[in-house]
Amino acid sequence: MAFFTKGIAKLVTEAISKRKTPFITFVLGGPGSGKGTQCQKIAEVFNFEHICAGDLLREEMSSNSQNGAMIRSIIMEGRIVPSEITVNLLKKQIHSSGNNKVLIDGFPRNEENRIAFERIVGVEPDLVLYFYCPEEEIVERILKRNQGRIDDNIDTINKRLESFKKLSLPVIDHYTAEGKVYKINAVGSVDEVFQRIRPVFTSLRYATIMSA
Ligand code: ADP
Ligand code: C5P
Ligand code: MG
Repeated sequence: MAFFTKGIAKLVTEAISKRKTPFITFVLGGPGSGKGTQCQKIAEVFNFEHICAGDLLREEMSSNSQNGAMIRSIIMEGRIVPSEITVNLLKKQIHSSGNNKVLIDGFPRNEENRIAFERIVGVEPDLVLYFYCPEEEIVERILKRNQGRIDDNIDTINKRLESFKKLSLPVIDHYTAEGKVYKINAVGSVDEVFQRIRPVFTSLRYATIMSA
């Protein structure tokens, strides 16, 4: 069995490496729904590059770039950074990763993000994961996150939840209409949630071979 699995993995890697564009998975869900935690596990087990839009923006915010102060105030207010900035950071990271299987975590957050990505990067996602998590759980998780983030306070959390409902849900609806969304119940232990995701990427291996 181990040999069989290893053989399949090699075939998939070869099939994906023949693609002209990377295999892109967008990872969406409310703030604190566990996107980053699960992306780390997917990246490790299925050899994806994990690119987190929020992390790229926080790095940019802390650098001396001309956009740093603007990004800081937008993040503090739970609003969305202009797409041009985020998409160019993502594009650089996708190209420098050298991995053609990419998870893009926390993006696109609104329709403008989605359209800018298609225009600037020139590809559409193959798959969209949507982590569904009730608001009470979200608030509890974020208040316990303890990573020193400037936006992990109750005022900003409420604003981020509003942004998510108003701006991000329409993006999820868009991809649902295209049949690309896999909705995951994000409640449960980290391992329980991962067990719900695992079959998606396992079946992807087979699907990739079938269409190669
Ligand atoms: P997101 O990237 O969606 O904002 P994170 O992955 O950072 O979410 O998770 C938010 C917080 O909740 C973190 O402190 C993380 O350790 C914790 N967390 C993640 N998944 C779970 C889970 N399944 N159950 C409980 N806590 C979780
Ligand atoms: O995804 P994460 O929780 O790390 O995002 C933190 C903040 O970064 C968001 O609330 C938002 O202000 C900003 N962000 C953004 N555009 C994205 C991703 C994140 O403006 N695509
Ligand atoms: Mg995150």
